[in-house]
Amino acid sequence: RTTRHYKFNIKLQNVTRLCQTKSIVTVNGQFPGPRIIAREGDRVVIKVVNHVQYNVSIHWHGIRQIRSGWADGPAYITQCPIQPGQSYLYNFTIIGQRGTLWWHAHISWLRATLHGPIVILPKRHVPYPFPHPFKEIPIVLGEWWKADTETIINQAIQTGLAPNTSDAHTINGLPGPLHNCSAKDTFKLEVQPGKTYLLRIINAALNDEMFFSIANHTLHVVEADAVYVKPFKTNIVLITPGQTTNVLLKTKSKTPNAKFVIASRPYATGPASFDNTTAIGLLEYKKHSLSNPKNNKNLKLFKPTLPKFNDTLFAMNFNKKVFSLNNAKFPAKVPKTIDRHFFFTVGLGISQCSKNEACQGPNNTRVAAAINNVSFVMPNTALLQAHFLNKSKGVFTTDFPNNPPFKFNYTGTPPKNIMVSSGTKVVVLPYNSRVELVLQDTSIIGAESHPLHLHGFNFFVVGQGNGNFDPKNDPSKFNLVDPAERNTAGVPSGGWVALRFLADNPGVWFMHCHLEVHTSWGLKMAWIVQDGKRRNQKLPPPPSDLPKC
Ligand code: C2O
Ligand code: CU
Repeated sequence: RTTRHYKFNIKLQNVTRLCQTKSIVTVNGQFPGPRIIAREGDRVVIKVVNHVQYNVSIHWHGIRQIRSGWADGPAYITQCPIQPGQSYLYNFTIIGQRGTLWWHAHISWLRATLHGPIVILPKRHVPYPFPHPFKEIPIVLGEWWKADTETIINQAIQTGLAPNTSDAHTINGLPGPLHNCSAKDTFKLEVQPGKTYLLRIINAALNDEMFFSIANHTLHVVEADAVYVKPFKTNIVLITPGQTTNVLLKTKSKTPNAKFVIASRPYATGPASFDNTTAIGLLEYKKHSLSNPKNNKNLKLFKPTLPKFNDTLFAMNFNKKVFSLNNAKFPAKVPKTIDRHFFFTVGLGISQCSKNEACQGPNNTRVAAAINNVSFVMPNTALLQAHFLNKSKGVFTTDFPNNPPFKFNYTGTPPKNIMVSSGTKVVVLPYNSRVELVLQDTSIIGAESHPLHLHGFNFFVVGQGNGNFDPKNDPSKFNLVDPAERNTAGVPSGGWVALRFLADNPGVWFMHCHLEVHTSWGLKMAWIVQDGKRRNQKLPPPPSDLPKC
């Protein structure tokens, strides 16, 4: 077994975008951050050293962390944050996964600039189940704020109002020519004719689902969230924050007399304002590229057409095209029967402000977000530690509701009382429970899709639909054969999604909306999966350098 060592120095770096320079938190001074590369089966050891004045924690998004929950990373869930001047060794083995995932800070809004790709190659001598690409290219979609993002979120939390939206979307950290001073900050993909490229697309944006397209080129989706899918063609990819999508790009057989725009723009349905700017990159055939400026004249410029920003029908149809590859080598292990069923409503609401808050919402309220009407309150110590030491008292309670406290027509008029409750509540699952979870968008303040992410597991997306989930008729239509297997799935705007997973990983596992603004408002909860009986079914004790709160 190979061990791959990395050192992540968390430090400030001056970066100039949109005509302004600001100091951002980075890994090793890089933005987007460095790529981690490993093979399936490898052990990965990353020493994270915190040289900044913020508390930091890093999450390896989508890595299953089988019996290595101490390395998962969400602050106050699996570990206390790494304090200024401190370090922590993340140590995990990649079991049964290959594809693209990513890492990001998992505390406050630091992931705005602290993120990067994780590339997991198949085991040595094991080919991809698709044509071997000539080159592999990570495409990290992100957001850029002119102002300091920590100031923005801290102000929003204090006032109870919505935080400012970003000023630009980015492709590999670059906003592109539609923004002032940014023509030089354009992502360029230089290709050769007649070749196949593998684009590893990651949506690292804080708050926006994205459409992604390359003019006059078809994309073949082959993998999602590091699971092979039945290949399908599309001109436009939809990708929520947290998701990763691998696509094959076949270039034209002869160098065309043109350049092609790469575009990335949000899909947004909520009532809130969003950053509606478009990030632009360029696909150039090598002959025409900058290294060869003479040939660069009189080239046509083709632009892609993207759906309308609120095209929910497109979103629904796109998600319905994703199926597990489900062949003999990569079977979809969907739980056929279930032990526990949960119905969770997800959505926004309001909560009362406490006396010492400078809240500016009407009647001393603030915007809140909740699952089953519970807005999650972050504990002061890590849940995993409290669970491991059997010291839950004063940290968390195990009474997270299996169902919402009241039901209503989720697509009709919202209820009068939209006040949410709050608490640090978890669900406890026996080892190896087969879980079914239906997530319903409440549409209380307006229909909105919520990309829900589950740590520690992949789930199967066995069903989805518009309107209210119908427990009588919808389950009979569930796909238990080859549903998409992922770690992040959008609860459709004004609709529902049904997931199944096997709780075979002991520990404490965070689940939250990957729109950072919703997470900040409380759209999060945690599952505790108990140890199994056998030795290899138990969570090992914490490493000695586990940070203290
Ligand atoms: Cu990508 Cu809980 O995170
Ligand atoms: Cu959300």
